[in-house]
Amino acid sequence: MTITTLHVVQPPPPRRPKRRGKWRGKWRTLLIIAGVLSLLGAANGEAIAAAVHQYEINTASYNSAYGHWDEIDLPNDVQVNAIHAAQLSTGKILIVAGSGNDTTKVAPGAYTKTSYDASMFAPGTFRSLLYDPVSGETTPIETPSDMFCAGQTMLPNGDMLVAGGTQRYEDLTPKHAGGVMTVKNENPDNGITFPKGTEFEGPTGQLYKTDSDVIVAPAAKTPQGDGSVKVTASATNVWVDAEAEGDPGKTDQPGQYTIKGLSGNDAKNLYGMNDAMTLDKHDFEGDNKAYVFDPIAEKYTRVGDMNEKRWYPTLTGLPNGEVMATSGLDGNGRILQGQTEVYDPATKVWTAREDLTRYFPTYPAIFQTGVANRLFYSGSNAGYGPADKGRDPGLWNLSNNTFTTVPDLRDPDLMETSSSAWVGPVQNQTIMVVGGGGVGDVDTSTGRIDTIKLDVKDPYFTPGPSLPEGTRYPSVVTLPDDTSLITGGSAAYRGKHGSDNHTARIYHPGTNTLSVAADPSVGRDYHSEALLMPDGRVITLGSNPLFNDQADTEPGTFEQRIEIYTPPYLFHGARPEITQAPGFAQLGDTMVVTSPQAGDIVSARLMRPSAVTHVTDVEQRSVALGLTHTEDGLTLSVPAEPALVPPGYYMLFLVDSTGIPSVAKWVQVGSTVSTMAGMPGMGG
Ligand code: CU
Repeated sequence: MTITTLHVVQPPPPRRPKRRGKWRGKWRTLLIIAGVLSLLGAANGEAIAAAVHQYEINTASYNSAYGHWDEIDLPNDVQVNAIHAAQLSTGKILIVAGSGNDTTKVAPGAYTKTSYDASMFAPGTFRSLLYDPVSGETTPIETPSDMFCAGQTMLPNGDMLVAGGTQRYEDLTPKHAGGVMTVKNENPDNGITFPKGTEFEGPTGQLYKTDSDVIVAPAAKTPQGDGSVKVTASATNVWVDAEAEGDPGKTDQPGQYTIKGLSGNDAKNLYGMNDAMTLDKHDFEGDNKAYVFDPIAEKYTRVGDMNEKRWYPTLTGLPNGEVMATSGLDGNGRILQGQTEVYDPATKVWTAREDLTRYFPTYPAIFQTGVANRLFYSGSNAGYGPADKGRDPGLWNLSNNTFTTVPDLRDPDLMETSSSAWVGPVQNQTIMVVGGGGVGDVDTSTGRIDTIKLDVKDPYFTPGPSLPEGTRYPSVVTLPDDTSLITGGSAAYRGKHGSDNHTARIYHPGTNTLSVAADPSVGRDYHSEALLMPDGRVITLGSNPLFNDQADTEPGTFEQRIEIYTPPYLFHGARPEITQAPGFAQLGDTMVVTSPQAGDIVSARLMRPSAVTHVTDVEQRSVALGLTHTEDGLTLSVPAEPALVPPGYYMLFLVDSTGIPSVAKWVQVGSTVSTMAGMPGMGG
């Protein structure tokens, strides 16, 4: 192992945006004047320097070199905690908060904007917001369950699938002892549902109650060789809390518990088993509910429940349009031990895949590679789970559930809170791993960028450039000109010690180098995200620092400001235009596209829209299209392999010879299921 860029954070680092760039001509003069005025005490030198900086970052030459950031100010009453964000094929962005990571209880009548937002979970107030970046309009969306820290992905018909979320918040110092109750059922003929609050009585008479509904299956019947039938009790876990406060609820004696309210045979057949009841920290509990969000009807519809409750799962779209769910914390706050399941969008049902049992830490970055049944886990994850388990990157072969690790990743112990993304077109089969930090709440982090090419025999990581400082939670966004924007993040865990970095870089795959991008003014760390919009700009949202101050004394507030980055390519002249393009293409199809600038178009890309949370985005991918110039336009060819182009909506960008992208047109690829097909007056 080689540790190349280990950073240990020394509090407090500078928070003020840094100046850079060449000071030429009048700027030098302005600076000198500012300096002189400052020396004379005629004005505040810092204020003048800031004003000069403001002036500079708005000049055409600066924007052309580094791009530009614009803050979007949504009205206070519609702002939400952006835990998740997805680019929908209507052009709107769905921002999902759920309860938004706040449980603070607020006295009735004391609601201010801040306190209102800080009291979502307890009263069951869950929020999502649709934002239209073109009109600036916002629409609050009724949100039926707590999607806080769910998984999400886009489906072939353009719907967004969201699965899992929060059943219960963590409790670092529980007042009531608790533990996992295993409910046994020895009756092979009947299952039973116990509602939340069902009481269990322990051997010494202590009472415990369940914190969620639990569905208990019938016992299993197995025919034996001698003609008899063997009955095996079913076992279902549910969390219980002691009714008594403190030590009286504790026990380290394994025992059998009776279930209150049962009589006769039920009382014999149904009972609980528990190993210990403790006052230990209780982690977040996952949920098993799943919904699709229809971008046209603009509403959530419930679909089949997952087999497992999951908090922090990753959803990976597969070549056939199905979706695989991996990892997460279960209904008892414990990390799942590798249970994998697959969602079929046609039946809206999840199927457990015991043949694919494989353990990963939470929010594992698992990508569909260019080969069916071959997934790549980059090692990026969002924390939870032991430091020595499931942390190594590698290729997962779904045909036989084998996992082959890949070597040479630098700073392999600093992968928590890192970010991973495809580099340039997916046909290159190259993934980049950016930043990250040590396991848990530690100050170690890295600015390492490594890449790996997956379509060679025995893939291995190759060193790339380093970010200027250690960076947890970097957002990585693939751009239509094949570069990648890397923005935001913090040097320390959740922005501690005022360590939000306020920097951005652009990665150039051709030279394996970084160039400087303009500084974002809003810092972003935990619970933040960035995504490419069809106009070629990047929107950034969210951030959930632990503290607001460098001394780490003042509790952090959730960052609700939105900022949009306009890359340099949009300051380089007139954009090419797509005048006509088909709205639908099958794999292997050619598409006839017209553009007044057709002769100057050098590349065409299908960009899959992002569905991102916790800087984890296994959705975004850029697909290079074959390009032929014709008399009056372009003929573009779509790859035939569904592993390269999983079915769904894509943004079609044309890019000209100076690297300027068009505004994208939406193309639905590779599916016979069309959202439009079911709409009155619309063809399929
Ligand atoms: Cu989270």
